[in-house]
Amino acid sequence: ALMDKGNYKHFMAKEIHEQPEVLGHTLSRYLDYGAQSAKVAGADKIKFKDLSRLVISACGTAYLAGLVSKYWFEKYARLPVDIDIASEFRYRETPMSDKDSALFISQSGETADTLASLRYCKEQGAAIGAVVNVPESTIAREADVVFQTIAGPEIGVASTKAFTCQLTVLAALALQAGRERGVLSAEDEKKLVAELTEVPSLALKALASEQAIEKLSQTLSQATNALYLGRSTSFPLALEGALKLKELSYIHAEGYAAGELKHGPIALIDENIPVFVIAPYDRIFEKTVSNMQEVAARGGRIVLITDQKGAAESGNAAQDTVILPEMSDIVAPIIYALPVQMIAYHTAVFMGTDVDQPRNLAKSVTVE
Ligand code: G6P
Repeated sequence: ALMDKGNYKHFMAKEIHEQPEVLGHTLSRYLDYGAQSAKVAGADKIKFKDLSRLVISACGTAYLAGLVSKYWFEKYARLPVDIDIASEFRYRETPMSDKDSALFISQSGETADTLASLRYCKEQGAAIGAVVNVPESTIAREADVVFQTIAGPEIGVASTKAFTCQLTVLAALALQAGRERGVLSAEDEKKLVAELTEVPSLALKALASEQAIEKLSQTLSQATNALYLGRSTSFPLALEGALKLKELSYIHAEGYAAGELKHGPIALIDENIPVFVIAPYDRIFEKTVSNMQEVAARGGRIVLITDQKGAAESGNAAQDTVILPEMSDIVAPIIYALPVQMIAYHTAVFMGTDVDQPRNLAKSVTVE
């Protein structure tokens, strides 16, 4: 049965492990494998071709999926994105008109602040798209077009598979927007679609790092503070890592853009603070490594999440390294989410906290 933990100790563990499968389901809904293009039904409602900006609003982990997609919409579709957390957006009185389109991202489709943001945009005349997991939800019903994540029911309070499925839908939407806006060539689209097709098998390989993560999580459960660093699309993942760790294990954690290290968090570094560095071997890898070396020079205990090439180029600054397969830029944030989820999960298990139902948190925040 769907509401069954199966052989897993927690729903969260089950949902982490379901990712290769549900990511495959979501991809096949939004990609045309034959034509090797993005194929998002109803995307015409968003009028990508005519937009001067796309507004995105959401809460929690769904907001962080939106933040990753900002990099994609701007890079692949040359479409500026204005993204904000829904509790701020709803009261910000941002100017909008019937020339605007807005996207709302929500697993439950019932989050009060996200719904209020949607209604604000609707009143201003904007076209409304919703990336939701529950198709009969209020947000789905009030949107002009629904892009459903095919994650299946998510029971664990901390979102896992819904997040990576949201990323998958948003990646397809960004490619669709790029094509419609005439800025993504058919050749580039084909290449990116082929890369996205690798997501389920890469997710399966990422799950293979679980034993190593479980081992290092045991020592991390002694920490009272942690820091997560990343650049570009790894920056929202750093925020997600910190969010997950604090909500599940109650260890205080902060996520920072690696380039901001010097503007504050470097003051926190000593040998007691684990620093997670999320750094696939990409165009800005070296920049992140130089931040990592600044942490190492101050005695920080580094856990580097990277690939073989990254590990080889990182100059021994890290005490622990989680190795993922090499992968392209567009898939990296989807796949790097898995070790980030597993670190929080296993740390919480060692701490003995209630993983599926952390104190004070609700699966869906339907009141303000
Ligand atoms: C709560 C949950 C999070 C979720 C957020 C937004 O805080 O604990 O996991 O990301 O709400 O929920 P939504 O259903 O709108 O995605």
